[in-house]
Amino acid sequence: MSEKPVGIANGLTNYGDRDFSLYLRRSFAKSMGYSNEMLAKPVVGIAYTGSGFNNCHRHFPELLEAVKRGVLAAGALPVDFPTVSLGEGFLNPTSLKFRNLMSMDTEEMVRAQPMDSVVLMGGCDKTVPAQLMGAVSAGRPAVMLVGGPMMTGRHRGERLGACTDCRRFWAQYRAGKVDQKEIDAVEGNLATTAGTCAVMGTASTMACIAEALGIILPGTAAIPAVHADRLRAAEATGALAVRLIGSKLTPTAVINQKSVENALRVLLAIGGSTNAIIHLTAIGGRAGVKVSLDRLNELSDTTPVLVNLKPVGNGYMEDFYAAGGMGALLRELKDLLHLDAMTITGETLGERLDGEPVAWVDRTIIAPRKEPLEPEGGLVALFGNLAPQGAILKRSAADSTLFEKEGRAVVFTSLADLAARVDDPDLDIETDDIMVLQNAGPHSDSAMPEAGYLPIPKKLATKGVKDMVRVSDARMSGTAFGTIVLHVTPDAASGGLLGLVRNGDRIRLSVKERRIDLLVDAAELKKREATREKPPETPARGYARLYAREITGADQGCDFEFLRSR
Ligand code: FES
Repeated sequence: MSEKPVGIANGLTNYGDRDFSLYLRRSFAKSMGYSNEMLAKPVVGIAYTGSGFNNCHRHFPELLEAVKRGVLAAGALPVDFPTVSLGEGFLNPTSLKFRNLMSMDTEEMVRAQPMDSVVLMGGCDKTVPAQLMGAVSAGRPAVMLVGGPMMTGRHRGERLGACTDCRRFWAQYRAGKVDQKEIDAVEGNLATTAGTCAVMGTASTMACIAEALGIILPGTAAIPAVHADRLRAAEATGALAVRLIGSKLTPTAVINQKSVENALRVLLAIGGSTNAIIHLTAIGGRAGVKVSLDRLNELSDTTPVLVNLKPVGNGYMEDFYAAGGMGALLRELKDLLHLDAMTITGETLGERLDGEPVAWVDRTIIAPRKEPLEPEGGLVALFGNLAPQGAILKRSAADSTLFEKEGRAVVFTSLADLAARVDDPDLDIETDDIMVLQNAGPHSDSAMPEAGYLPIPKKLATKGVKDMVRVSDARMSGTAFGTIVLHVTPDAASGGLLGLVRNGDRIRLSVKERRIDLLVDAAELKKREATREKPPETPARGYARLYAREITGADQGCDFEFLRSR
């Protein structure tokens, strides 16, 4: 029996007799039909997230075959294993609650099972950060393969893509401009192929961030899910995983202060999802890298928006790929990036960009630096007494006429309260008011859902009102738009001032000053503090209990405290 701890001889099950353990493992492995020759090879694990509850990963069986082909051709044995999979629209109360569970599953299964390197197959919003968090903590050589975006559908000659167009049509339906028959037809044409949402939502943003971090193959973030190039990328990723065996290129060699800052630059230049701030903070937190919101603001002031995709622009991810994709974008940003950041191929980012052929670039989708879509980055962090630990505004998707504004607060105390009253014809609300949602943050029962895109009350929507300032401790889908202040930290349920806002209070937003303030005097706030609602009770058992006890705020990436790097 081989003594070399490689392949399935790695990390033996402990029966108190190492030779017996190996003999038994080989015996069980042989029951799956493997030959001695195959069992002598190093093993590439493949963290597989195909699931009947994850439409975005519908093509993963075919993608898995391509990864395996790449691994086998490069001389190792591919072994796939299932982990938790998070399909954005199929989880209650919200997928974010289970991101840390998936990261723990990934970390522990990568560490506990006999593999020499691992391919992480992810795609839908939370799956990419969960896998990267887990892989960073596991410390094994790892490379990611993202599933790629959906193609667009068609409705009455118009292109449709999940999920910016989902929201646009829903707003029209609420305003009475689209009838039931048409919304039913739209429903069937928003998401028509395998793959992740077709716009620059959270999944696409995280794919671009993964490429900026250097943890996926160059040029692969934007390849559509159903494109043959996606299968070739899968095969090449399998081959790379074999080359990683025994190398020092573990995820922390790639994910560090420099690559995280490159990822922030990319996030800003693509007008990416606000969710990515939370995820990048959590991924960085596993590697001991702090993502500072002050630094985000500095970078935002010096990073132009260059990518013209919905929700901030017009195009879809398939257009971004055809336009030149991440290579073209990174070349535009070259002087702003840390070019000495290492990537998973063993090349630095600078070497990658110098070595790539400069292809044609569609300037209607990827603007040149000289003519940016916006001179400043898409996201900005706000502070002030309402959010001493920060809040986020996606200014590239907001109405700039609302950036300097003082208004009367109209408060909804919970998601249930919002649902019950927002369309009440008697709701006391005017266009100039500021809508506030409380108790939708990470410490609330609802676990920070994408509910920050508060619907415009029906009585205003039917009058043509399309945007208002909205403030909450919730998140917002990367596909949404509006003047929406999110991630208010600390959140209401963990004692934040947000929980003390009352109807009629004045709130002041100043994007210029990077502030969001509640204009209520200290004596009144002290009085209200005495009557503050009790925090939600800790659930008695299970993952919900672990979540309630360990969840951190948005400024810590909503990771569990005990999982962060020490
Ligand atoms: Fe999976 Fe949008 S639902 S990426």
